[in-house]
Amino acid sequence: MMQQSSHGACPFVAGTRRPEEPYPGREALRAAGPVVVVEAPADGPVAVVTTAALARAVLGDPRIVKDTTLAPSHWDPHAAGLEPTAAQALSLTTAEGATRAALRRAHAPMLSPRRMRALAPAMRDTARTMLRAAGPGPVDLVTDFTTRYPLTVVGDLLGLPRAMLDDAVAACRQRVGDAAEGAAAMAAFARLGAAAMAHDGLARELRERLPAGISDDEVHYLLFALIFAGQLTTDTALGFLVARVLTDGPPDDVGALVDDVLRRDPPAPFTLWRFAAEEVVLDGVVLAPGTPVLVDIAGLADDPAAGPGAGLAFGAGPHVCAGAHLARAELAAVVDVLVADFPAARLAVPAADLRRVDPGTLGGSRLASLPVAGLT
Ligand code: HEM
Repeated sequence: MMQQSSHGACPFVAGTRRPEEPYPGREALRAAGPVVVVEAPADGPVAVVTTAALARAVLGDPRIVKDTTLAPSHWDPHAAGLEPTAAQALSLTTAEGATRAALRRAHAPMLSPRRMRALAPAMRDTARTMLRAAGPGPVDLVTDFTTRYPLTVVGDLLGLPRAMLDDAVAACRQRVGDAAEGAAAMAAFARLGAAAMAHDGLARELRERLPAGISDDEVHYLLFALIFAGQLTTDTALGFLVARVLTDGPPDDVGALVDDVLRRDPPAPFTLWRFAAEEVVLDGVVLAPGTPVLVDIAGLADDPAAGPGAGLAFGAGPHVCAGAHLARAELAAVVDVLVADFPAARLAVPAADLRRVDPGTLGGSRLASLPVAGLT
């Protein structure tokens, strides 16, 4: 039987909290069981999975799908953070079967660990130049740097002219605005995709690697996914990562620190929407066909079954993050540069004064500000 959770277990709480305070509502949620039915931000029930073992099973379960045609019909797609249906937009995130396998194959070599290792020096150059340009400060790194740096890295990778970087920053910010702004952002992303495809880079390589019959508009959407998914997530992670380095000092193992930050402060605190394609019983809870399902990634930080390192921060199963190696490489590059080239860098406020803002949606929390001095 689907049962609404007891009061206090809602994980969609907007607000501001201190750095050390846990995610609101998550402890009560886990205490309520491995599958907890709560009220979705866009209304109606959603089944939230709170244990890592069950999460891994759900993320590989072919009966729990990302087909957004199954979403409650009264949901406002933009407000709910619902992706377009597979028929509306060809996307890695919603394609299934042979189409999805072909899309993944086309993306994989472009974002491989080997390729990312080769690009690490260029990422470090980008981080160094941008941090130096920020000046001695104090400068709030989350107003511009944490957004612009991942966009510069992914833009360079795809072949986007640097002159269009401001457009990319604006499009990402617009995309999280209201529905009209979101639509305007998509038009801007299409222009960015077209510009990248006109230059040498991975956008053109992706175009060549994709199966025949995919239109330019469809490629633009695939490029949008790379640009936006990469910015949104890496942006918030960078804030927490830089704060950790400046609070705790240089790490012994940069990769381990990056993974730990992603595990503790996952930029995607929930997976994207999934829906039961048929009746599914999860740990005794019966989900009717169409029931929305989320995995509580943020709540799984301390569950050993989440796996080592970043745990489930990049998801798992067939839809596991396509940009994980890129994200790790660009985050590690910032730590390397901060430690090696900016020894005087320090937080301009006590670490205890930092605040994180939770949007109360599927989105991750981000630092309200990150004033840093000594970037010389
Ligand atoms: C720290 C940074 C990042 C985090 C934490 C993150 C997290 C995630 C998660 C949790 C998923 C799976 C969602 C689900 O199954 O519902 C995902 C998927 C995806 N991510 Fe990332 N991501 C990050 C960076 C990136 C970057 C840099 C890119 C590309 C440039 C990217 C591209 C994608 C794409 C295309 C998918 C869809 C994969 C599919 O459905 O097959 N991500 N990401």
